Amino acid sequence: MMLRVTLLLMAVTAALARMNVLFLVSDDMRPELSIFKGKDFPSPVHPPIHSPNLDALARRSLLLKRAHVQQAVCSPSRSSLLTGRRPDTTHVYDLQAYWRVVGGNFTTIPQYFKENGYRTIGSGKIFHPGHASNYNDPISWTDPYFEAGGPANDFVYKEHVSWMNVPMDLLKNNSLQDTQNADFAIKMIREAAPQARSGERPFFIAQGFHKPHLPFVATMRFFDMYPESSISLPANPYAPDKMPEICMV
Ligand SMILES: *[C@@H]1O[C@H](CO)[C@@H](O)[C@H](O)[C@H]1NC(C)=O
Ligand SMILES: *[C@@H]1O[C@H](CO)[C@@H](O)[C@H](O)[C@H]1NC(C)=O
Repeated sequence: MMLRVTLLLMAVTAALARMNVLFLVSDDMRPELSIFKGKDFPSPVHPPIHSPNLDALARRSLLLKRAHVQQAVCSPSRSSLLTGRRPDTTHVYDLQAYWRVVGGNFTTIPQYFKENGYRTIGSGKIFHPGHASNYNDPISWTDPYFEAGGPANDFVYKEHVSWMNVPMDLLKNNSLQDTQNADFAIKMIREAAPQARSGERPFFIAQGFHKPHLPFVATMRFFDMYPESSISLPANPYAPDKMPEICMV
């Protein structure tokens, strides 16, 4: 499955000599966001993707339009990005291998901050989950890793659907995974802020969003933004001629 990791590094406290870092990753981000429109990206964008917050963040950021993943699957690209090494060095080509075992005991980005006195806190999908990262690479973090769960998520995964409107009553007790993880990151920014402000201990907080990776699960108001009549199939449904089989996965 194709994976595009869009990374936005945002310094949240410019006043400090050692800046804090909020590291945001999202899974399977599409390049059709309207912020990519322009002479470098002439493809038509139909229908528009509703992403006002991401667009606003991109407008005041350095936007790298030609940044590509190292390999078109999750764990190899994440391991590569997080260790600063290509898959042929990490030896991670699949969703099982852990680079510290198969490639080398390479330092990750959060680990580097940790070794330099930062408080490092992670939640959501940063590393590939499960044994491919020895369960979120404990060496990288000063604080216990947080991954959301609960009834709304259990329901979604149990159904094995590719898209679903989540009933609101299910969300009464518990929000969806990404919302819970984002709430956790906000809580941790607040918690880490005093020490960071006093210059005692800056923070590196990483938040990985599972969306927009399938299954496309959201509440109805998000589906309402994309009426079925506005959706059409691609004009060219064929894979490129002589495309290697491995790319078809
Ligand atoms: C990998 O590096 C970390 C950090 O330096 C260290 O704590 C750990 O023991 C090393 N693991 C191995 C298997 O060498
Ligand atoms: C919400 O919590 C209440 C009280 O714990 C429980 O009875 C109910 O089944 C829960 N609803 C869902 C959808 O999980």
